[in-house]
Amino acid sequence: MKAIRYHEVGGPEVLRLEEVPDPVPGPGEVRIRVRAAGVNFADTERRRGLYDAQAPLPRILGSEAAGVVESVGPGVDASWLGRRVVALTVRSYAELATAREEALLVLPERVSFEEGAGLLVQGLTAWHLVHTMGRLSAGQSVLIHAAAGGVGLLAIQLAKAAGARVLGTVSTESKARLAREHGADEVLLYSEGDVAERVRALTGGRGVELVLDSVGASTWKSSLESLAPFGHLVSYGNASGQPPPVDVESLFEKSLKVSAYWLHTIHPPELQRQAREALRAELVEGRLRMQVGLVLDLAQAAEAHRQLEGRNTVGKVVLRVP
Ligand SMILES: NC(=O)c1ccc[n+]([C@@H]2O[C@H](COP(=O)([O-])OP(=O)(O)OC[C@H]3O[C@@H](n4cnc5c(N)ncnc54)[C@H](OP(=O)(O)O)[C@@H]3O)[C@@H](O)[C@H]2O)c1
Repeated sequence: MKAIRYHEVGGPEVLRLEEVPDPVPGPGEVRIRVRAAGVNFADTERRRGLYDAQAPLPRILGSEAAGVVESVGPGVDASWLGRRVVALTVRSYAELATAREEALLVLPERVSFEEGAGLLVQGLTAWHLVHTMGRLSAGQSVLIHAAAGGVGLLAIQLAKAAGARVLGTVSTESKARLAREHGADEVLLYSEGDVAERVRALTGGRGVELVLDSVGASTWKSSLESLAPFGHLVSYGNASGQPPPVDVESLFEKSLKVSAYWLHTIHPPELQRQAREALRAELVEGRLRMQVGLVLDLAQAAEAHRQLEGRNTVGKVVLRVP
């Protein structure tokens, strides 16, 4: 099969389309003919050697796939054959990928492969940020950084569905428009002045109960300063670099909480099932809109990375597999 691999860490140009052996589904696994592979910001960090740096090379990137089950391994129900699915997996920048049976989610008929490819990594992350970590409830306010990104647009919608008031930050006016279209009540441009000051002005001087921060170094200070007393900052990414170490002493005055979320932490299976089913139901019933911002062919993976790390994308970035 054809797959995108890199042999050394570096710029987008290290991603190459190569011929590699077909993966064989092991016990409890299926093989998916990939139609769309999700691209995630973390893939660009892996390629740059900033994340998962100990993984052996050459390496095929990709952690989610949408496609059709074309073969099943030992012990797997044959009724999966031919079904349209999405799955959390590995090595999905490829024509074929294997996934564990329990990682499969049947793709509703009205949802395209491109839309489905963004459902799991970004969707589950957004769901756990809003519910498992943030415990957001009606009447609370949340500040979401990188609000027009893949996770950001989904987090806006899930936070609105929970009854919260949503404030977002973005880098451009067109991203601000898109975040508003997805339900954000207030969207701030980083360039238009002190974010925390504006957040406090928009919340009657109080601040927000929850901040979801994937940007890290450049937003950290404003995230802490935007919190209301007893507020909670959840860190889940470092797109602009690592934030400074947490100074616990500085949290006392407002009794603040700082935590971190990682999708690869082993989640209680029941919680993960609940999150996946909730996302699927939101999608089927048309309450969750998957914004596919950029679709490129598998062979153009390097360009997809360039656009994503250059802050030129909105919503989901997808590699279509012809
Ligand atoms: N913890 C987890 O388990 C988990 C899971 C999934 C994703 N994540 C993290 O969540 C974040 C969002 O992921 P995503 O795939 O949905 O990406 P994304 O948000 O679509 O893209 C990243 C966005 O970050 C913003 N950004 C701010 N400073 C940046 C900088 N210096 N360089 C590049 N981008 C910068 C940009 O938005 P503006 O131009 O509007 O600033 C950019 O569009 C990433 O940090 C990712 O690592 C974490």
